[in-house]
Amino acid sequence: MLKVGIIGVGTVGASVANILRDNKDIIKARAGVEIEPVLGVVSNLSKDRDVTIKLTDNADEVLNDESIDIVVELMGGIEKPYEIVKKALANGKAVVTANKALLAYHRYDLEKLAGDIPFEYEAAVAGGIPIINALRDGLSANNIKSIRGIMNGTCNYMLTKMINEGVDYDTILKESQELGYAEADPTFDVGGFDAAHKLLILGSIAYDVDAKPEDILIEGIQDISPEDIDFANEFNYTIKLLTIAKKIGKKVELRVHPAFISNDEMIAKVDGVMNGVSVIGDKVGETMYYGPGAGGDATASAVIANIIDIARRGKGAPMLGFEFDHSENLSIMPKDEIET
Ligand code: NAP
Ligand code: HSE
Repeated sequence: MLKVGIIGVGTVGASVANILRDNKDIIKARAGVEIEPVLGVVSNLSKDRDVTIKLTDNADEVLNDESIDIVVELMGGIEKPYEIVKKALANGKAVVTANKALLAYHRYDLEKLAGDIPFEYEAAVAGGIPIINALRDGLSANNIKSIRGIMNGTCNYMLTKMINEGVDYDTILKESQELGYAEADPTFDVGGFDAAHKLLILGSIAYDVDAKPEDILIEGIQDISPEDIDFANEFNYTIKLLTIAKKIGKKVELRVHPAFISNDEMIAKVDGVMNGVSVIGDKVGETMYYGPGAGGDATASAVIANIIDIARRGKGAPMLGFEFDHSENLSIMPKDEIET
């Protein structure tokens, strides 16, 4: 049996605990071993929640428990989870996280610290879509020319409702929060920062560039006006928050910003909480990935895929993932040189 501790039993953590319980048999068949969620960490023990996992408010109870094999970090934030993940790895525990903000700042040092200990984060980008797996595995024969798409479910849900149904910004932002799509601080979503965190993860996997959010062009959806929406509707366009990584010579352009998209484009049809990502490889050509970009169960699906994969490999087995282009010495394009 593999024992799992879940640090953060909110929207995603509760889904992870419940799916591990509800789909126990199928997960055991696929993992080759029973996977048991044994302890969850929350900040407020008196909150009502729909979980059966035992809870504590002391993360050290998970980190110091020698019987726990895999720590799943789902609390959000940057510095506190950084300390927790470092301690889990130092204690020899495999780690799975969905925390893109943490990864945008600390992925390289955590990967280094992890060494041969599994450290996985499929759910950190595009919710339930296995885009990291596709980049690292399915497209590994390719030089990646570009990654372009919709990577924030909250913004896409909001824009879809604002453009198609005329719902106002504040009402639809509140609804996105109630549905569990938005970050604890929704400025990360509407300001484009969450999409930027995801872009930095994909960009670093495809191009080995270790940029930080401050280094790249980020514009959110807060300033989209009713006139912009009228213009889009009138001319058969829609508005999407686009997230783009593109190799241009020896530079990598990284940017997040809203854009008018013709309704004839495939990406224009990615509506609601769905995400859609196009990856162009030099040999395969264009590939497209589509699916739910946020929400408890969709995100937990990707978290548990990592847990099952770790179980299959066996605790302590070497990481299978590898990254492209280490030899190319690419650098990011300064943001004032990007034409949008
Ligand atoms: P959430 O609903 O706010 O849950 C966070 C959980 O962490 C809560 O259980 C909270 O405790 C606990 N927590 C927070 N600070 C803590 C602390 N200092 N000590 C102990 N427990 C603490 O967040 P979420 O939406 O599940 O997101 C979790 C992570 O997944 C984030 O990194 C987010 O970016 C990422 N993610 C979310 C989604 C999504 O659709 N929601 C999708 C992909 C990735 P209480 O319950 O007591 O407040
Ligand atoms: N807040 C994020 C979003 C969660 O809306 O896309 C999924 O990463």
